[in-house]
Amino acid sequence: MLRVLLVSLLSVFLFTSATAQDAPEAVPDRSATGGAQTLEDILARQRGETLDDGFRRDDTGNADGAGISDQLGTLGGASDSELWRALRYDTADVTASNSGHAATTLVQDGGMRWLSFREGPLVTYGGYLLLGTLGLLALFFLIRGRIRIDGEKTGRTIERFKAIERFGHWLLAGSFILLGITGLISLMGRKFLIPMFGHESFAFIATGSKWVHNNVSWAFMLALIMIFVMWVVHNLPSRTDINWLLKGGGLLTKGHPPAKKFNAGQKLIFWSVIVFGTSISLTGLSLLFPFEMPMFAATFEKMNAWGISSLLGLGELRTTLAPHEEMQYAQLWHAIVSFVLMAIVLAHIYIGSIGMEGAYDAMGSGQVEEQWAREHHSLWVEEVKAKEGAAPAE
Ligand code: HEM
Repeated sequence: MLRVLLVSLLSVFLFTSATAQDAPEAVPDRSATGGAQTLEDILARQRGETLDDGFRRDDTGNADGAGISDQLGTLGGASDSELWRALRYDTADVTASNSGHAATTLVQDGGMRWLSFREGPLVTYGGYLLLGTLGLLALFFLIRGRIRIDGEKTGRTIERFKAIERFGHWLLAGSFILLGITGLISLMGRKFLIPMFGHESFAFIATGSKWVHNNVSWAFMLALIMIFVMWVVHNLPSRTDINWLLKGGGLLTKGHPPAKKFNAGQKLIFWSVIVFGTSISLTGLSLLFPFEMPMFAATFEKMNAWGISSLLGLGELRTTLAPHEEMQYAQLWHAIVSFVLMAIVLAHIYIGSIGMEGAYDAMGSGQVEEQWAREHHSLWVEEVKAKEGAAPAE
């Protein structure tokens, strides 16, 4: 799972590095074109090579000709190439009837790169990640089987989660599953559902999916805040986590390392849900309100300033992005992080249901068998018993 995760994260970096400004190379001789691009530049671009286009990008808005309102006509004394270069690099003084930078950006060139990444590696590696995770879980089930309650059941139960906690959890779980399914339909439906159902039926499914996805997102964000507030104190790292991790949580061996209310594995799930869920929510909001919440140029600026981009080998990231490029990054990041979180959540669903005897009750009725609690969360049981005033039983 880790490998696939690394591959998909790597692919983000590869994608972003494609748009990063590379270290300055030896300047090609463009004297024959008076400094404009040459046939070699065009051919290199067509081969998909990254070109330092600074010679064009930085050469806008410096026409010597008369201004647009001067006597020489609409273009003034500016040449066509001057105008087109300014449009191409978004420095032209464009006025549109509806306001906003997106409306006045007439040319942006991230679209094809975004489309081919979205249709290609994103679908392929994202799909492999989910299928690979399911395969690994099936293999784990075949090898390890269901993790049983080892000791004698006591017949007594302990309250593990209150009704409000279970409500928060199921709101999160229900919304996440709906968002996952409808998100996958939006991303992969053209490829997999159109051949099965045809265009018309898919149009209906896609429209419904988009509606559900957009609206259910609010439930997810609300639930994310709920579980954060309710459970953050139980998920702060503690010394017992190291021991738990060193023993692999007792997943592959017999015996149960001590744990508080949440063991280290659960804490990793919790923080993944919080961090990735927040990242998905922010980029989702940015997609829900197009062009209103650009966040990538500012992030790239911080990554450059803090040296993160060079640490990752991305060079200097571009910090002036067209509004459409902001949307393209938001969409890709939203989908990539969602794939990673879906894979993690699949493992969580497995262990919270068929993977472990007695676990589901915690979120079902809220009451768990005391023996289960002693085996998996011994320190928590002691705390609960101490609070009840009863001496902790062996
Ligand atoms: C639909 C199937 C799901 C089942 C059967 C399930 C089951 C459970 C159970 C039994 C627990 C309590 C574990 C314990 O008592 O220690 C739990 C906790 C939790 N669940 Fe789920 N869950 C599901 C889906 C989800 C989803 C989709 C998310 C997030 C998007 C999620 C996030 C969490 C978190 C953050 C916790 C607390 C940390 C942890 O126990 O790992 N769950 N879940």
